[in-house]
Amino acid sequence: MMIRCIDIHKRYGTLEVLKGVSLDVEAGEVVSVVGASGAGKTTLLQIVGTLLAPDAGRVEVDGREVGRLGDRELSRFRNERIGFVFQFHHLLPEFTALENVMIPALIGRRDKAGSERRAAELLRTVGLADRAGHKPAQLSGGEQQRVAIARALVNAPAVLLADEPSGNLDTQNREEIHRLFFELREKLGQTIVIVTHDDRLAGMADRRITMSDGLIR
Ligand SMILES: Nc1ncnc2c1ncn2[C@@H]1O[C@H](COP(=O)(O)OP(=O)(O)OP(=O)(O)O)[C@@H](O)[C@H]1O
Ligand SMILES: [Mg+2]
Repeated sequence: MMIRCIDIHKRYGTLEVLKGVSLDVEAGEVVSVVGASGAGKTTLLQIVGTLLAPDAGRVEVDGREVGRLGDRELSRFRNERIGFVFQFHHLLPEFTALENVMIPALIGRRDKAGSERRAAELLRTVGLADRAGHKPAQLSGGEQQRVAIARALVNAPAVLLADEPSGNLDTQNREEIHRLFFELREKLGQTIVIVTHDDRLAGMADRRITMSDGLIR
């Protein structure tokens, strides 16, 4: 199992957001997570992504029990094994598309020439070979999000976690981004969890998980 969540609980003050969520995701699976606003989708994704610790329960990603990792090990694990895509791309405006894609590799102290080759190859994979030298402001919204997806993949993560990745795009760009996720699964065998409010995207996934009232239904 690439992701294993066992009986996850999380509360904020008196608000019980996750009330015992268990979820397994296999390698190469694309899973969508849907549910009303406030249902706890982002909270669950952040817990899977090790950005947030659960109050109780156990999380394993790529065979590692992440709750057992210390701070430094955890940062390293996150950098190497988990790719994130958010609703807003969070690209650095001063850097080119190629440089933005390279950043997680450089943070992970990978070899610069190898990182650059890998970044260029990923830009090709997401259909942006000819935009490598552009800065974010010189790219369309859809292109910016493609760069963010390439960046999430530069360290060849075990899992790609996307939180409303197409929430900020128009219909055409949205559909292209949706297709891209499935291409990535075909080409890279990438395991992907996508939180979305988009019914069509949710329906394209191998499995759709619905959250409500702190539980998976
Ligand atoms: N840091 C926090 N402190 C306090 N409450 C929080 C915090 N983060 C989230 N919450 C609350 O926890 C609940 C679940 O939030 P979460 O962001 O997981 O929902 P969501 O399903 O992603 O919603 P949306 O579809 O609107 O993004 C919400 O009621 C939210 O207000
Ligand atoms: Mg959310």
